[in-house]
Amino acid sequence: MSLQIREEARLDIEAAARSFNPTEPLDSPSRRQQNWPWWPLLPLYPYGNRCTIRRALIPGHVWSFEQLQGIFHVVVPIRMVVVSVPGGLLAYAPVAPTRTCLALMRELEAIHGPLLAIVLPSSSGLEHKLPVPAFARAFPGAAVWVTPKQWSFPLNLPLRTLGFPAGRTRVLFEQGLPFPTVLDWQRLGPIDIELGWFCEASCFHRPSGSLLVTDGLIALDDVLPELLNADPTAVLFHARESGREPLRDTPERRRRGWQRLLLLSLYLRPDCLELPPLSSCLGDALAPGLRNRRSYFGLYPFRWRDDWQDCVHRVVRGGTPQVAPILERLVFPRRRAAMAHWLAALADLPATQLVPCHFRAPVPLAKDSLRQVLENWCRGPRQDDASISGFLQRLDRTLVAAGLVSGEEDVLLGGRVVD
Ligand SMILES: [Fe+2]
Repeated sequence: MSLQIREEARLDIEAAARSFNPTEPLDSPSRRQQNWPWWPLLPLYPYGNRCTIRRALIPGHVWSFEQLQGIFHVVVPIRMVVVSVPGGLLAYAPVAPTRTCLALMRELEAIHGPLLAIVLPSSSGLEHKLPVPAFARAFPGAAVWVTPKQWSFPLNLPLRTLGFPAGRTRVLFEQGLPFPTVLDWQRLGPIDIELGWFCEASCFHRPSGSLLVTDGLIALDDVLPELLNADPTAVLFHARESGREPLRDTPERRRRGWQRLLLLSLYLRPDCLELPPLSSCLGDALAPGLRNRRSYFGLYPFRWRDDWQDCVHRVVRGGTPQVAPILERLVFPRRRAAMAHWLAALADLPATQLVPCHFRAPVPLAKDSLRQVLENWCRGPRQDDASISGFLQRLDRTLVAAGLVSGEEDVLLGGRVVD
């Protein structure tokens, strides 16, 4: 990234951070700017208060809009990517359209033209699906594109009932593709995962060399994301060794908390995390100074083994692209051929940077970066996290044993994909 690009990205972040103060009353003007009224439909932290940061990844071509989402204090960034297309802009994987988010979008529209297309690039990612109807209402002139095999839970309702505009919603690949002169679309799936369908559409933006993916690929960084620097509550919560400790703020503790959030969000319950006895948790909760919401009133059911930082090192893999562990262990354990086909298609693209919807972005791509991911994948299940991912593996076996997912193997054999 050039110095000029870094500088412009920095200005965007500083502007957003200045407008954010987590201690302000809920009815303050700046809090109203961040209000997300539809949060009860998917009650993820930080609920109705969504701070948005815009970063120019490649000025004039690619912008990232980032918010936080999580369960309790297990929080990671979620990202919408906006790219330039002929005559205007396209939004890939919308985030909650708060007033701040919309104002930042209108700024881009004033310079680069109207938002012409909104893309929901996932069939299963509720966190990406939920903002789309509200986002589409804010941009009535934009076409809406969705991946095939959309579904909803607990009731499988048609898109129209979910608020997608019937007259301007089309299905990617089945009813065409937006801006094929500058965008190259590849799909992963649809795959029947028994509980629903998994399908993801990646988008290669030729003018910038950027490859946009949703959940299929991630890259990790043990450096704290800017959004968590603006409100470090979640990382300070997890930086502690026991529930007795108050939330103390130091740069080292912010970094430690983020590293633990990486393990929790990727593995749900990594093997290096032990659950202390209930009596110990309740005893800790009686310690003074913890009667507040930020500390979850002293409840802290976590005890990290001494080797947890070794686990972080193994998981980060030097920041290179990888298939997310949850996908590998729960969605693709017996559908490895489909992932291999998709990775092979991506590896043929002349992409110079990867922009996933979670974790680190942009990720510089060397010529053979994605070829390496494909080769690793074709070798079989990763072994470097076998001693971290025990919970995910047991969960998969439980789902198979209960008949909720099929135990049928696919046909990725001997390091080669067989149709
Ligand atoms: Fe996602």
